[in-house]
Amino acid sequence: MPKQPVNVVLNGKPVTLKVEPRTTLLRALREVGVTSVKRGCEEGECGTCTVLLDGKLQKSCMVLAVEAEGKKVVTSEGLLGPDGELHPVQKAFVEEGAIQCGFCTPGMVLAAVDLLSRHPNPTDEQIKEGLSGNLCRCTGYVSIIRAVHKAAAMLKERS
Ligand code: FES
Ligand code: FES
Repeated sequence: MPKQPVNVVLNGKPVTLKVEPRTTLLRALREVGVTSVKRGCEEGECGTCTVLLDGKLQKSCMVLAVEAEGKKVVTSEGLLGPDGELHPVQKAFVEEGAIQCGFCTPGMVLAAVDLLSRHPNPTDEQIKEGLSGNLCRCTGYVSIIRAVHKAAAMLKERS
C-alpha cells in the first residue's frame, strides 16, 4: 500500500512520518525510533502506548497516524530538559522505586504529568483515577502513587 506523509511536531521538532493510511500513531512512532511508546495490547486497554497529542492524553494505538497531521506529539523522551535532565515526574519515579520492568513507565509518567497539570495537589483517589487507564503488572501501584505525590512536591518547589 502506498505511503503518505504526515507532518507532526514530535517532542518539539518537525517530523514527517511516512505511513500507510491504516498505520496507527503507535506503530508510526516506533518506526521512527520512538521506543518509549510501548506496543502492549493495541486495543486501548493497557496505556503503555500513551502520548500527549496536542496536550491531551491519548492512547496512540487508538488513533491513526494520519489523524495526527499538524499536531504536537509528546512522548516520555520529550519531557527531558535541554541537557537531558529528567523531568520531576521521571525523577520521582526513579527515586521512589516506582519502576520494575519499566514497560508501563513511559505511559504512566505521561499520565502523571497530565494528572498533575489538572491536580497540582492530588489526593490518592485523584491519582488512582488519573492513572486508571494505565496498567502495571509489577509494582502493585503503591510506589507509583508515592512517586506522584513526590513529583507534586518537586513541581511545587520548582515553580
Ligand atoms: S497498546 Fe495502546 S492501550 Fe495498550
Ligand atoms: S513496572 Fe512492569 S508493568 Fe509496570
